[in-house]
Amino acid sequence: MRTSIDVFAKAREHERLEQLRAARELDLVPYFRVLEGPTMPEVEMEGRRRIMLGSNNYLGLTGDPRVRQGALDALDRYGTGLTGSRFLNGTTDLHLELEDAFAEWFGTEAAIVFTTGHQANLGALGTILGPGDTVIADSGDHASILDGCLLSRAKLRAFRHGRLDRLEHTLEKAAGDGGGVLVVVDGVFSMEGDVAPLPQISELCERFGARLMVDEAHALGVLGARGAGSCELLGVEDRVDLRMATFSKSLASCGGVIAGPADVIEFLRIASRPFMFTASGVPAALGAALAAVRICRSLEGPELFARVLDNASYLHRGLTQLGFRVVEPTRLADGTSVVTPVVPVVVGDDWKAALLWKALYDGGIYVNVALHPAVPPSGALLRNSVMATHDHRTLDRALQIFAEVKRAFEAEHGPLPAAGGAPVSGLSRAGRAVTRDENRRPDLSTPAQADRARNFPL
Ligand SMILES: Cc1ncc(COP(=O)(O)O)c(C=O)c1O
Repeated sequence: MRTSIDVFAKAREHERLEQLRAARELDLVPYFRVLEGPTMPEVEMEGRRRIMLGSNNYLGLTGDPRVRQGALDALDRYGTGLTGSRFLNGTTDLHLELEDAFAEWFGTEAAIVFTTGHQANLGALGTILGPGDTVIADSGDHASILDGCLLSRAKLRAFRHGRLDRLEHTLEKAAGDGGGVLVVVDGVFSMEGDVAPLPQISELCERFGARLMVDEAHALGVLGARGAGSCELLGVEDRVDLRMATFSKSLASCGGVIAGPADVIEFLRIASRPFMFTASGVPAALGAALAAVRICRSLEGPELFARVLDNASYLHRGLTQLGFRVVEPTRLADGTSVVTPVVPVVVGDDWKAALLWKALYDGGIYVNVALHPAVPPSGALLRNSVMATHDHRTLDRALQIFAEVKRAFEAEHGPLPAAGGAPVSGLSRAGRAVTRDENRRPDLSTPAQADRARNFPL
């Protein structure tokens, strides 16, 4: 008997097809825009110079001569590719040097380098966890974390973003599941840029005997005096069991790393399928990452970390003064607050976000657009991000363009969400009432829901 169902149907009939078609006709699709040069504070993009506020190049190291030289030296020495997995034929001294450097930077016993950050999450979660275990994830965690959880076939329990009361309740429930329990969170959340309340999370994990893993993708090279990330900033390095980071942001390259106890890292080397059954990163990527790590670990590192954070505060202040609703800084227990390099403007409606994005693009700024499921439904954001190498003059020019675009946009399409409005979705902490927006963040409490939410469609 022939099946009547075509597996290609989902490609031809998915829910965003119409929206995508209309957006293409109007040249409003903010994705796959073509760069014509390196990712710098200003870039050549589709025939025009534009201010780049849509990268993860937080330290601006992609153009640094030492990082480029690191890539060239590795290319000269090892050629273009290693043509196999690290396990069989793709490990070099660059990998080993990077692993030592990360273990030292994070203050862990050991570290293991993967080909990408996505694979690092997949390879750690998919191996450490098994079908009898429970994994607890913040619903704002990155898609690669959810993919790793699903790969592991552990029981997935998600809690609403940043809600410690929900985490506590979930830990209580997980204690009855009968297996080991791991909590996994982003240190800095990739879309909203808020910082996880790690002291409270680690306290809860300790109370319930759960392990804790923190993804430092957006915090490495940014937060903490050594730039080791959110765990360092919040003083919980000794209370976190596994740390993950990627080379694709501050380190201006491509690759990923997991750091933790030596026996666990050794286990990953011989049991992690996303580590063993994929090709090693290309030598140039490793050489560039190693050079970037050396810069971060030199006296220059703290200057760069301070500069990117200063630029983030500058842009945050400027956008707020223009009347945009910008995601609020994260308030820490000691009363200080942190603005991370991710400075998102809340728009709400998807179509308005695309229109505003296009107006900014035409005005000479490139930013990222985050739509559901990267953010809650009706929680569209323009995700702005800064580099240490932006100067205030360039940011002032960007703010001038933002001001002009806002004026014209609101005259035509009505008001954008205003500064100082209700708390932005997904950013509450325990003890605060849940806002309507928070209630709409996709609930990932069943694998089917998590499965839907991990996709990143337009
Ligand atoms: C929080 C987080 N974790 C993991 C990753 C995956 O890293 P990579 O791009 O190196 O695969 C990303 C990438 O965007 C991320 O934002």
